[in-house]
Amino acid sequence: MQVIIVSDAAEGAREVADVFERVLRDAGAVVLGLATGSSPLAGYRELIRRHREEGLSFASARAFLLDEYVGLPSDHEQSYHRFIRENLTWHIDIDDAAVLSPQGQAADPIAEADRYDRSIAEAGGVDLQILGIGSNGHIAFNEPGSSLASRTRPVVLTESTIADNARFFDSREDVPTLALSQGLGTIREAKEIVLTATGENKARAIAQMVEGPISARWPASCLQLHPAVTVVVDEAAASQL
Ligand code: GLP
Repeated sequence: MQVIIVSDAAEGAREVADVFERVLRDAGAVVLGLATGSSPLAGYRELIRRHREEGLSFASARAFLLDEYVGLPSDHEQSYHRFIRENLTWHIDIDDAAVLSPQGQAADPIAEADRYDRSIAEAGGVDLQILGIGSNGHIAFNEPGSSLASRTRPVVLTESTIADNARFFDSREDVPTLALSQGLGTIREAKEIVLTATGENKARAIAQMVEGPISARWPASCLQLHPAVTVVVDEAAASQL
């Protein structure tokens, strides 16, 4: 695990975008793993800038989202399907039909999770996965207690995640309690991973991920098992390392 401590958001965004740019230039028809949440946003803005000003192209890329809330229509303003379009993919030259996510309104969420997991493998797997991290150490929606070998599946969100994400909704009661999430085993199959976090609120999770024992208590700690992880954190998020 390579840990890069940056002094401000702009430097963090450049580090994240540099990893994307290298993989896009090296791999051609690349499969990207995209994440929602606020952590990747600065990096996404930098990728949009490089697309507009420097011609960085995503035309041959496909993308898989990590997760989706169960029950939200795909055009709901807080669905991850819409979030990734508004914050990244509508602003670059990726084909909209090549930006895939689990269907949160599927009648059979277990079958949908299995289908989605298989579709990632059938696409040849993810070349580069970007991740944020929850304050409780979750990645995607793999809450503490998730099997380190877990696959894409329906998951129940913890109270702390619902509280963290309530800021995006009108009220806490509006936050869905279920999601479809790639599993920790699924995520670890990505060939390369870049995880980014900022702020004191993430410091304990970052310390447990980098220096703690590998344990389902802190799901992100399973990334210690992965051979190619870059962690981009500001000084506040790195403060317990
Ligand atoms: C959500 C997402 C995660 C994300 C996490 C942190 O729960 N499912 O993928 O990493 O929140 O979000 P933020 O970056 O907004 O702190």
